[in-house]
Amino acid sequence: MSKVTVVGAGNVGATCANVLAVNEVADQVCLIDIKEGLAEGKAMDIMQTAQLMGFDTIVEGVTNDYSRTAGSDVVVITSGIPRKPGMTREELIGVNAGIVKSVAKSVLTYSPDAILIIVSNPMDTMAYLALHSLGLPRNRVIGMGGALDSSRFKYFLSKALKCNANEVEGFVIGGHGDTTMIPMKRFATYKGMPVSQLLEPEEMDEVVKQTMVGGATLTGLLGTSAWMAPGAAAASVVESIVKNQMKMIPCSIALEGEYGYNDITIGVPALIGRNGMEGVIEIELNEEEKALFDASAAAVKKTIEALKGLNVL
Ligand code: LAC
Repeated sequence: MSKVTVVGAGNVGATCANVLAVNEVADQVCLIDIKEGLAEGKAMDIMQTAQLMGFDTIVEGVTNDYSRTAGSDVVVITSGIPRKPGMTREELIGVNAGIVKSVAKSVLTYSPDAILIIVSNPMDTMAYLALHSLGLPRNRVIGMGGALDSSRFKYFLSKALKCNANEVEGFVIGGHGDTTMIPMKRFATYKGMPVSQLLEPEEMDEVVKQTMVGGATLTGLLGTSAWMAPGAAAASVVESIVKNQMKMIPCSIALEGEYGYNDITIGVPALIGRNGMEGVIEIELNEEEKALFDASAAAVKKTIEALKGLNVL
């Protein structure tokens, strides 16, 4: 019996619950929200697709009663406000910090051993907050940004290559910010072939640029932040945990010396399995990548400092 709770029945949370159900990732999904009836409505809507889609997962909607989340193996936290066009993810910190902290505390009261997946923005900093305010071991707090950014990178690579996105490999490390994420162009491959040999350097730079502003582009088009890919990205992290798939998913993890850093949560390639973060994969960065990672880490540290100033830790 596996149970997953998704906190926040907004666009991202509801999409995540939907993907978890359609893919039968867990036996039971509890969708919880503070707004009266919202989670119940979204859950009912999802359950009315069970016969159409052929899934057996039970999705239950709950208003604010955390006792109903009890016994969850994994909890996805999407709570908080999304960004509006023109806003950065970092600008959300003041409002979202308090929300994420209280939600994380509530879920752990009823599922003390749960692994937390942080989606709320600014995602790296919210992962840091959950980790430190609750005193959890680092394997149990995973920020999902890299899963999303890597998926966007592969999408833009496939567009540039005019190929099937499932035949492209690539990953993004660093912070989940428009200027801080680092699409790793040197490691991108198409059926094992280096993409750097298939695209002109200018085309690759364009792909990198599009990936970095991938979220902002959608915020501009949609008037609020994206939800399909963010919800599915979070669900992919959940799946690797629940099914102990040990997939390598770039995630925001608390570093303990890896890549030369401590006291920071930032995107790195990580192994995701039953115990959450099961290991950080350290690759040798070249000089350019190292400089980008240092700049990214400096930006994430700055947001963490702002968090410390809010006295929520
Ligand atoms: C995005 C938001 C969810 O990148 O951070 O779409």
